[in-house]
Amino acid sequence: MTEPCTFVIFGATGNLAVNKLLPALYHLEEAGRLPEGIAIVGFGRREWDDDTWRDAVQKSLTPKARRGLHEETFRRFRARLRFFQGDLNEYEAYGRLRHFIENAPDLSQNVIFYMAIRPSEFAIVSEYLAAAALNYENGGWRRLVIEKPFGYDLESAQMLEERLHRNFTEEQLFRIDHYLGKGTVQNVLVFRFANLLMEPLWSRNYIDHVQITHSEVQGIERRADYYDGAGALRDMLQSHLLQLLTLVAMEPPAMLDAESLRDEKVKVLRSIRPIPPSAVHAHAFRAQYRRGLVNGEKVSAYVEEPGVAPNSTTETYAAIKLYIDNWRWRGVPFYIRTGKRLAEDTSIIAIRFKHPPQQLFRKTPIEALAPNWLILGIQPKECLRAEIQIKVPGLEMRTRTTVLDATIDVPDAEKLDAYEALLLDVVEGDHSLFLRYDEVRWAWRVVDPILKVWSMERDFIQTYPAGSWGPAEALRLFDREDQTWRHSIDPNYEDEH
Ligand code: BG6
Repeated sequence: MTEPCTFVIFGATGNLAVNKLLPALYHLEEAGRLPEGIAIVGFGRREWDDDTWRDAVQKSLTPKARRGLHEETFRRFRARLRFFQGDLNEYEAYGRLRHFIENAPDLSQNVIFYMAIRPSEFAIVSEYLAAAALNYENGGWRRLVIEKPFGYDLESAQMLEERLHRNFTEEQLFRIDHYLGKGTVQNVLVFRFANLLMEPLWSRNYIDHVQITHSEVQGIERRADYYDGAGALRDMLQSHLLQLLTLVAMEPPAMLDAESLRDEKVKVLRSIRPIPPSAVHAHAFRAQYRRGLVNGEKVSAYVEEPGVAPNSTTETYAAIKLYIDNWRWRGVPFYIRTGKRLAEDTSIIAIRFKHPPQQLFRKTPIEALAPNWLILGIQPKECLRAEIQIKVPGLEMRTRTTVLDATIDVPDAEKLDAYEALLLDVVEGDHSLFLRYDEVRWAWRVVDPILKVWSMERDFIQTYPAGSWGPAEALRLFDREDQTWRHSIDPNYEDEH
């Protein structure tokens, strides 16, 4: 049985809490998965009492509850909510918080501190918590949850970890990468390790290359403050997309426990061939969106977004090519790309297989055999498909691509949000879907040389029109001419952008 706990949210009135954490906790309530004795404490600066916060949560949850706000479920949920007024930059608030947690008869001494705050505040808040002895596990466990970005580059990530580790053990730390909570992402492991079918094919012998794409139609919204200092490589690629790569490429773990899984992921990251500064241009490409059309409407260029400097060279598109130098993958390119203001919202892992070794159909009307692809759609559509060639019925020898589809269609009202799985794991103390420190460090090591070279080249950046699939020049990353970006899960997708 899951133990009761006190779930403290720093930044309780901020975006992450309102848009993701509280809806996820509510949906867990609805699913009957919250432990009986859980209390949710909102830590915020506003002069609110419990009821003001409860009303605000009710209001913000109403449009987000998948099946509408259910009266009885919300009544139970509402009763768990407590508001704690405090300024997270003031030490005295932490002493009061400790007093509050220790003296409220209905609060459990198992405490989760969720940092839904600016990453620059992680270290100092962890130090204040420790100064008030809130990290001590004498009457119950203590967990600290942080969310990417973990640092700004390899060096700052190391500094952050040192500061966190002064007061919290690795066992107490939960580093969230919300991509690991997504349905298809978890399905990668099941697909690979619960089926024998693919395993013999899952290597350099049969796989031509792997592509991982994350594209977004939206721009940077109102996040210039953060995004202009980060850019696409840090924002998406170093974290979420490298995580996807590790799941596709890892060896079967010895067991399904957190350490065995994370050991295998780290082995992949360690095997990625380092990119020396002289090879950065051959392996990485960056660009920035200019004005363009999105759904028929004119949209601004990145440099015209509020808060962005007119001469900013921050990339909103990044594409890289990586090689994993191990027995399974040596020589197989992994192409990874991400961008804002692209043609469509889509996240897919696309694995292209090699052509059969013999051109048996050369003397038939078949012009060119399309290769087999395996497509793992992450969003908007979750799917798992294999594309194969079949003969078209009739007298002629012609082929076409057909799809073996292992997708389970889930109605919208049933679709889980990534945070639901992850928050439940924090409550249950399961680290499997959370990053271990060495994973973070090795992932930074992969992108660090690229970041360094780009940071020195601050006078020019290629651009692409908003609403397009990004710059054609990014094709230069491909090893061969017959390799190109796969934009869609649909084999017949026509690129109109
Ligand atoms: C976040 C990035 O981590 O992930 C955002 O900071 C990005 O820039 C988002 O839009 C994408 O997440 P999702 O779940 O919407 O694909």
